[in-house]
Amino acid sequence: MKDTILIVDFGSQVTKLIARRIREFGVFSQIVPYHQLKKKNIQVDEVKGIIFSGGPNSVDEKFAPKVPKSIYNLNIPILGICYGLQLICKKFGGKVSYSQKREFGKIFLKVKKKSLLFDNTFKVNKEYQVWMSHSDAVKQLPNGFESIASSNSCQSAVVQNTKEKIYGVQFHPEVVHTYKGKEILMNFVKKICRCKKHWNMKSFKNDIIQSIRKKVGNNNVLCGLSGGVDSTVTAVLVHNAIGDQLKCLFVDTGLMRMNEARSIKKLFNENFNIKLDVVNSSKKFLAKLSKVKDPETKRKIIGKQFIDVFERYSNKQKNIKFLAQGTLYPDVIESSSNMGKKSVTIKSHHNVGGLPKNIKFKLLEPLRELFKDEVRKLGKELNIPNELVNRHPFPGPGLGIRILGEITKKNVEILRKADEIFIKKIKERGLYDKIWQAFCVLLPVKTVGVMGDNRTYERICVLRAVTSVDGMTAESFKFPEKFLESCANEIVNNVKGINRVCYDLTSKPPGTIEYE
Ligand code: XMP
Repeated sequence: MKDTILIVDFGSQVTKLIARRIREFGVFSQIVPYHQLKKKNIQVDEVKGIIFSGGPNSVDEKFAPKVPKSIYNLNIPILGICYGLQLICKKFGGKVSYSQKREFGKIFLKVKKKSLLFDNTFKVNKEYQVWMSHSDAVKQLPNGFESIASSNSCQSAVVQNTKEKIYGVQFHPEVVHTYKGKEILMNFVKKICRCKKHWNMKSFKNDIIQSIRKKVGNNNVLCGLSGGVDSTVTAVLVHNAIGDQLKCLFVDTGLMRMNEARSIKKLFNENFNIKLDVVNSSKKFLAKLSKVKDPETKRKIIGKQFIDVFERYSNKQKNIKFLAQGTLYPDVIESSSNMGKKSVTIKSHHNVGGLPKNIKFKLLEPLRELFKDEVRKLGKELNIPNELVNRHPFPGPGLGIRILGEITKKNVEILRKADEIFIKKIKERGLYDKIWQAFCVLLPVKTVGVMGDNRTYERICVLRAVTSVDGMTAESFKFPEKFLESCANEIVNNVKGINRVCYDLTSKPPGTIEYE
């Protein structure tokens, strides 16, 4: 039995950060979408605390998300964050309404009363910087609740009802911009819910292996390998769970990096006892993508082609019921929030939103709750060599989303050569492990240049390299100017079809890491 904190998700983009912080304390946490929360599903002996996340709705909306009333009667401590706080106050008879003075970003919080939530962290009569993002605020507290901290525009910025063990914060303790936010969450988890520390990557690995076994039973699983860290960790994890019931397939889409198929096969043969089949479907992928320019259409076509290949392959095998994919939490958020009607789809990541609706497989996505850095830790726990664990991420749709405009065999070859040069130089310079992801992008515009005595009219190649912790936000990597210059020279001199090279300085947001 493990102490668990249940996080009820109301659609905030940062809900996962709550889970992540709690896991960092060594306590297991689980996210449940609000509409799936049922009293009978809560293992009262394991769940030691419940956190309501923030969300984009107003509690007074007609179909505002809520939880069953019985959740409040479990005698389990509850912490409401932002929307969660407002929901609690409304439920117990308080008033929440739109505030003329909205608060976004860094706000100062004045502490008025001592609380276990503030233990060893926030002192009475002192001010602390927290991060808020709200338009609604609690205007009248319900009976039994007291306000223990306020901001300029929000009288009830932190509230408590110690008798019922219910707490609420208008700010977001889960984001790094909140001073000592982690400690506030820790006080809730350890001092109020009295959770003990026993969760770590090893126990996660064992739990997930068991749950894969249970889910899969005697069936077989197909795992599409892309050569990136996510699909590699997925394959090794599933193989640990079900051995040869796992079939691994590397699909050469024609949109892979230079020699990718060969090097993945070699790495797999050398390091694992997992059989890897390779199928070359490049002609088909490129034919289907011919003349397509729109990014989302490209993603959907590539997703569909993958499924076609998987289905054809599985028809020749026995009993393949599941398709294992290395979907990560950021892919899930950015493909669409499962409850955020107001959160928009940024792009259809192929292992989530880009897949066709009707596929014959059930999906097995054991990494769906994890961020990339957690996946790398899991990879190390599975004894996957650093060479594989530390590979830069490579998206399922491959070079297809790095060739802007039309994708042709010739364009892929141009980009592949440029990319190989850029990555080779980064490795030679010892910078590869300092960078989250580096790659080249081929723009659909041509510029005039001069080589020797001749005029050239060729494409622009953009170099992109970013630092990031989890792919959710990113900053451009700051290379020495001379290094960039030498990359530009080597690419222009060696790759026919490119006569100009630029470096992209855009962070995420407002940009994204990939271009499409
Ligand atoms: P963006 O471009 O959304 O990328 O800022 C964030 C991270 O996700 C990777 N990415 C993908 N990975 N399938 C994947 O497996 C996809 O469709 C996909 N799109 C983006 C991207 O390379 C970066 O690491």
